[in-house]
Amino acid sequence: MNSDSAVNCIGIILAGGTGSRLYPCTTVTNKHLLPIGEMPMIFYPIKKLVAAGITDILIVTGTEHMGDFISLLGSGKDFGCALTYRVQDEAGGIAQALALAERFAGGQPMCVMLGDNIFESSIAPLIEQFTREPDSAHILLKEVPDAERFGVAELEPGTMRVKHIIEKPEVPPSNYAVTGVYCYPPDVFSIIRTLTPSGRGELEITDVNNSYLESGRLRASIVDGYWSDAGTFPSLARANELVRQSAPHY
Ligand code: G1P
Repeated sequence: MNSDSAVNCIGIILAGGTGSRLYPCTTVTNKHLLPIGEMPMIFYPIKKLVAAGITDILIVTGTEHMGDFISLLGSGKDFGCALTYRVQDEAGGIAQALALAERFAGGQPMCVMLGDNIFESSIAPLIEQFTREPDSAHILLKEVPDAERFGVAELEPGTMRVKHIIEKPEVPPSNYAVTGVYCYPPDVFSIIRTLTPSGRGELEITDVNNSYLESGRLRASIVDGYWSDAGTFPSLARANELVRQSAPHY
């Protein structure tokens, strides 16, 4: 299974959710099918993974628009990858969606991307770092002006060492947001099984990352170039503007 990837790592793109923060634009479609620049949003994470040598990719999305994803993306041959699809029956958080990838992963290391995250830089350096240290989880941080919207890294005083990650803190302990690209060893699935739902009723990816931190197995670096999510009208507009000003690098 999954033996033809150029690197020994599979890709997982999480593209579910109701997109409620973008109603009415997502009433009859999925957020990840909306345009950014001249392409549907979902093209960006696919192209990033493929450019980093990851060509076995699972797309997880809900029942409502799965057919549209398949019509748009097909087998993945136009992107130079093999796409597999997995249905998430109900939105239950990023970690719950990732749990659906266990069979597909088949014991291999993985790079997980949130389908609404737009990065300027290549993710190849992240994958190289992960390949050198495959027993640790690897995340990317970015300094932002509105950290309270994200998972935020609390840093050891005077260093860039991550002490703890807090999901959407009212008062952010730093300006470093955790971006939506994560590399995990195959034991991520046993960690997810230990999680309980957060206050917003979701299995949080932040809890997964804190679990790796507690066992000394989380590596964080700062991503170069711009980064934006696109799940709200201001961030969708911002992602479009960033891509218009400077196309992402692959
Ligand atoms: C999610 C994660 C958060 C992360 C963000 C990146 O937030 O929970 O930790 O910083 O993605 O886009 P959500 O999109 O669910 O608000």
